[in-house]
Order: sequence, then structure tokens, then C-alpha cells
Amino acid sequence: MLLKKLEGEIFFFSDDIAGNIEKAEMIFMAVNTPTKTEGEGAGMAADLSYVEACAKDIAKYSKSNKIVIEKSTLPVRTAEKIKEILEENSTDIHFEILSNPEFLAEGTAIEDLFKSDRVLIGGDDTLSGQKAIKSLVNIYANWIPIQKILTTNIWSSELAKLASNAFLAQRVSSINSLSALCEKTGANVDELSKAIGMDHRIGSKFLKASVGFGGSCFQKDILNLVYLCQFYGLNEVADYWHQVVKINDYQKKRFAQKVIDHFDGNLAGKRIGFLGWAFKSNTNDSRESAAIKVSEILYRHGASLSIYDPKVQYKTIVNDIENLWEIKVSIKDKRINIVDKLISTSQCDVFVILTEWKEFEQIEIASTKVIFDGRNISQNQNKFSIGK
Ligand code: UGA
Repeated sequence: MLLKKLEGEIFFFSDDIAGNIEKAEMIFMAVNTPTKTEGEGAGMAADLSYVEACAKDIAKYSKSNKIVIEKSTLPVRTAEKIKEILEENSTDIHFEILSNPEFLAEGTAIEDLFKSDRVLIGGDDTLSGQKAIKSLVNIYANWIPIQKILTTNIWSSELAKLASNAFLAQRVSSINSLSALCEKTGANVDELSKAIGMDHRIGSKFLKASVGFGGSCFQKDILNLVYLCQFYGLNEVADYWHQVVKINDYQKKRFAQKVIDHFDGNLAGKRIGFLGWAFKSNTNDSRESAAIKVSEILYRHGASLSIYDPKVQYKTIVNDIENLWEIKVSIKDKRINIVDKLISTSQCDVFVILTEWKEFEQIEIASTKVIFDGRNISQNQNKFSIGK
């Protein structure tokens, strides 16, 4: 919406990499940093090949001094590596590197942009570093109150992004771990969250128990943090943060196991209605969504699946199943059915809610059936809720 309005006025899209690098005084590097799939640190460390390629291009096409800004989420001390690449691949040009991590969440990006809790800018403690920081502060100061713009050294800024996501995810794993204890003791996890969150020192956000956190960032960033700690020989610290991801995996498996136990382990011939595939509501993104793991476990136990999500595209769900499940299946398999309308409640034996879409709150089902509610939103009587 914003881009449409301002395109051609202050936003210009172009594939002329050389020309635009040459013209720019400041360059934001906002490339992907997925988890490495091969080589040293595979499955944990961030793949910096896109960052490196981007730095090489900047060095190649720069003819004057530049401020290069890390916008991607990066491991601590990546700025060092970027500087090395820039200097190795150019002559007589001064590059000042700043770190300015992104804290927007999907679904609320524009709101977050205008009402950021803070804008973080890290740079070198040199004269040119401080000058570069000031130029970036001046841009943000156009809409962010100055007291919310925090300037730090570059390493604090790089680490703060990983640490912020780790803290948020840790809260979700903490409440999810307690949801298991609630189920054993008769405590109610929603009441627990409320009671804990009313302590203003703790706060109420990110204490909603769920089938597990997803999204492209939390797991990737924590594993990256774990890898960094291991790299520096801080094994206890690495283990501490790794546990956040392990609890998340445990929660997904624990939820699937509830469905399996409901059928005494025999899911053959049972059809399970999947309500939601996105990793959270208000997005069509399913990256690292709990739905991917839960569906695979139930399929492996013989279940047939009917999958519905109001926003996630058919081809995304197909890709998740065909390429991200550990077992190889084809979407032509008769046990998998992706539908574009809310599944008729007569067609399935049980339902599982994986995403907190509003339309799933009021779903009514026959009294012989059960909703396994992975988001604690259902108003239906016959349900299993997390942590209750
Ligand atoms: C997250 C952070 O919130 C952003 O600040 C950050 O900029 C972004 O990652 C990023 O690094 O790019 P996002 O992945 O869009 O944003 O999603 P969140 O709203 O943080 O939710 C993450 C997951 O946690 C979702 O699956 C959500 O359902 C789950 N969650 C969240 C819970 O299960 N319980 C909660 O109480 C809160």
C-alpha cells in the first residue's frame, strides 16, 4: 500500500545494481540469511553467502565512500567479515559499516514501523563511525521519537537482534513447558499466563501457550545463537538456549501424541481436519509452522488429512508436504486432501486447530467428535486444549 503510493516519488525499483550502488551514499543490505544446509555449522549457523555476494557487488561498483548498513539478521562480528570483503575488493574507498536490525513482525509490519519500541543503530566508536551513526539517526528521527533511537557499538547491535528473538521464543517455550505440567496437575495455563503476566516486571506479552512457535526467524536465530556460543566454547550457554528449540519440538510432538492417544494409536482410516497451516494468523506464511510437523506425525501413524487455511496458498502447502516432510510423499496420495473451503465437520473424525484464525473459534462439531485446539481459541465443548 505504502509502496504503491510512493513509487516513483521516493521509492524507485531497479535492477541496475551497478548504477544504483554508484549513486548511493548509504546502502542497506537486506538479504536472506537462512540456516546453513551444508558445510561447517550445517543445520545451525547462518548461511552468509548472500551477504558475502552483496558485499562483493558493493565493493565492485563503488566509486566513492559509502555507509553500508546491515539490515539482515546476522551473527555477531559479521560486520568484520563484511569490512574485510569490501576492503579486499576495492581500493581507496572508505566503507563505514553500521548495524540496524529489523524488529518488524509479520502481519503488523507497518504498525511496527511507525510505532517501533526502539530503533537500534550500532557503529564504530571512531569519528567516521559516529558520523555515520548520526546520519542514520537523522533519517529515523523523521518519525521515531529521538529517545527511542538507541545507538550502541556494532557488536551489541548485531547480538541484540538474535537475543531479542531468543527472549521472545524463550517466553513461548517457557509457558509451553508449563502447559504440560498444567495438564498433569489441574492448573489452567491461560490462568497461569494471566497471573504471571500481571506482574509488571514480567509483562503479559508472548505468554500464550500454543502448539509451538513457528516463523522464519525464531528457530533460525536461536540455532545461530547456539552455534555462536559453541564456537566461543560457551557450551553451557549454548545448551541453555538450545533447550528453547527442543521444548518447541517437544510441544509439537506432545500435541500430535494427544491425537494419537485418542485413537489408541491406530489412526488408519481416520480423517483429521487441519484447521490452519500458517505459523500464526494474519499471514499466508507457513515457514516452520507447527502444522508441518504435526501433520507428518499423524500421517505416519496412518491418518488421512484434510487441510484448510484461509490464507496459505495451495502450492505452499503442497511444497511443505512434498519437500519438508522427512518421509517422501506425493500430493496425489489419497490420504492427503487440501481444500479451499472450511472443511465440512461431517467429513472428519477429529479436528486439530493449528493457527489462531478467528473463523475457527466458533466451529461446532457433533458431540461424538473432538477438537484438538493447539491455540486455545475454540468455544466448542468437546475439545482438548493445551495446558488445561
Ligand atoms: C518475530 C519477532 O516477533 C519480530 O520482532 C522479529 O523482527 C521477527 O521475528 C524477525 O526476526 O523477522 P514473527 O516471526 O513475524 O516476528 O512472529 P511472532 O509474532 O513473533 O510469532 C512467532 C511465533 O510465536 C508464532 O508461531 C506465534 O504463533 C508464536 N507465539 C507468539 C506463541 O505461540 N505464543 C505467543 O504468546 C506469542
